[in-house]
Amino acid sequence: MIYLADTANLEEIKELFHYYPMQGVTTNPTILSHEDKPLSVIIPQILDCIGDKMIHIQVISETAEDILQEAKKYREFFDLKNNYYVKIPVTKEGFRAIQMAKDAGMNVTATAIFTQQQAIIAANAGADFVAPYVNRLDNIVSHGIDVVSDIVKCFRLHGISTKVLAASFKNVDQIYRVSMVGCHSVTASYEVLTALMSHPMTDKGVLDFERDGSHLYDVKW
Ligand code: E4P
Repeated sequence: MIYLADTANLEEIKELFHYYPMQGVTTNPTILSHEDKPLSVIIPQILDCIGDKMIHIQVISETAEDILQEAKKYREFFDLKNNYYVKIPVTKEGFRAIQMAKDAGMNVTATAIFTQQQAIIAANAGADFVAPYVNRLDNIVSHGIDVVSDIVKCFRLHGISTKVLAASFKNVDQIYRVSMVGCHSVTASYEVLTALMSHPMTDKGVLDFERDGSHLYDVKW
């Protein structure tokens, strides 16, 4: 399972990519609004921090034709390579746009997925990733983990190569549970990612090792 950062905050991205084996960054209009910088400024800054790792940029156009033009424009404007994934919400126009973007040779992440059927249709349209929203499902008394699990099982059952990029997490337990049902990838906030990579017992263990034996390490390096 691979991990992506669901943030456009440069300090968070720099820290995550410096210390951990992160595989990319995902953004959406809400995430970008937290930084309050225009796309033309923030995307190059993010690219400087992540090198050739994946960047998923969401479109805001409504019709399939406009979505395709918007997606292509970003590829040209930011000089994006094969690490660029256009994030397309699975509206009626979105499903059509996914097919058009694939025909145009683009990588696509189908986003705002809330059901297993939306995921299958997005996969049939050619999406490389489908992004089900775990916490938003949990918040409406549905079951985010079950939806992810159904999508993973179904893709496996039917030999569908589209990957599941589970999104919208509010805690580590949700990520633990999607990993246990075989989810291929997750994107999460800085807070959730750093929480899942650390443990107070690890910190205590390291302090204990240092206290007990550091005076014995007389071989200089
Ligand atoms: C990522 O692709 C989604 O846009 C994001 O994870 C949504 O998360 P939220 O429910 O915390 O806004």
